[in-house]
Amino acid sequence: MNMPVDMSTTLGNAWFPTPIFTASGCASSGKELSQFFPLKDVGAIVTKSVMSKPRHGRPTPRMAETPSGMLNSIGLQGPGIDSFLANDVPWLLEQKARVVVSIAGETIEEYATLARKLRSVSGISAVEVNISCPNVENRGLVFACDPDASRRVIDGVRKTIGGELPIIAKLSPDVTNLPEIARGVVDAGADALALINTVLGMVINVDTMKPHLGGKTGGLSGPAIKPVAVRAIYQVHAALPEVPILGMGGVSSGRDAFELILAGASAVSVGTASFGNPSALVKIQEELREILSAKGFATLKQAVGYAHREENA
Ligand code: SIN
Repeated sequence: MNMPVDMSTTLGNAWFPTPIFTASGCASSGKELSQFFPLKDVGAIVTKSVMSKPRHGRPTPRMAETPSGMLNSIGLQGPGIDSFLANDVPWLLEQKARVVVSIAGETIEEYATLARKLRSVSGISAVEVNISCPNVENRGLVFACDPDASRRVIDGVRKTIGGELPIIAKLSPDVTNLPEIARGVVDAGADALALINTVLGMVINVDTMKPHLGGKTGGLSGPAIKPVAVRAIYQVHAALPEVPILGMGGVSSGRDAFELILAGASAVSVGTASFGNPSALVKIQEELREILSAKGFATLKQAVGYAHREENA
């Protein structure tokens, strides 16, 4: 018989009963997934990054299949913060789901505006500040590619939102020195880090001889990027062992989630795998519980960063 495992985890002062979350952008606000399992049964629902105004996103086609993954070029389509707060958050709280609200902006001021709107909302567990969306017209607006811009966004959100709500800064792997950017956003007030956003990629249709995606470039997700995620989480956990990491990138089994946890993740988001199997989160959660038990871990927390132990001894 498997030994029971305490699966609970924390990101800043937010507590979650299990470490398996949705990934922002892959399940909107969770309504479709709720046909397959009660949303309260997983760690948290991380909502699609919302902006201050409604947004149509990028031209179609917006998706491309690739070997071991997919490219998306959505361009932050969404209803805008006012509609989201009026409709999606109350519905999620009715489901008794734990809610992490993801926000995205085109300017430092837009992030602060979003933070101001969230300040008075009760019941949400944390805010994910997405500073790494690859699908913007101007690469200069990928704040997470610039240490100073990253810091300024998080500083603005922290000052506006106050001290209580945990801030999770979502970073890009498409940078030279990820630990430097991670340290900067933590110094600016982030309590936790989300690693990794998708990897910038492109597909050219060799029949039409033109870029396949309407927006030309897109974000690569799925199994192809798991080694990039493991590397990023491992590097950042080594540099900042006290900072909790919400890991993501190509997780489709309990073994994949366990790998990210061994690298240093305190929680794991599942995205692309849910498109093929909408119940993937529940399956991964149960597989992870069994693996932790079989490996003799009484708590999830004991396994976080375990792969670092030998070299630190
Ligand atoms: C998108 O809406 O384009 C994806 C968002 C992201 O990857 O951050």
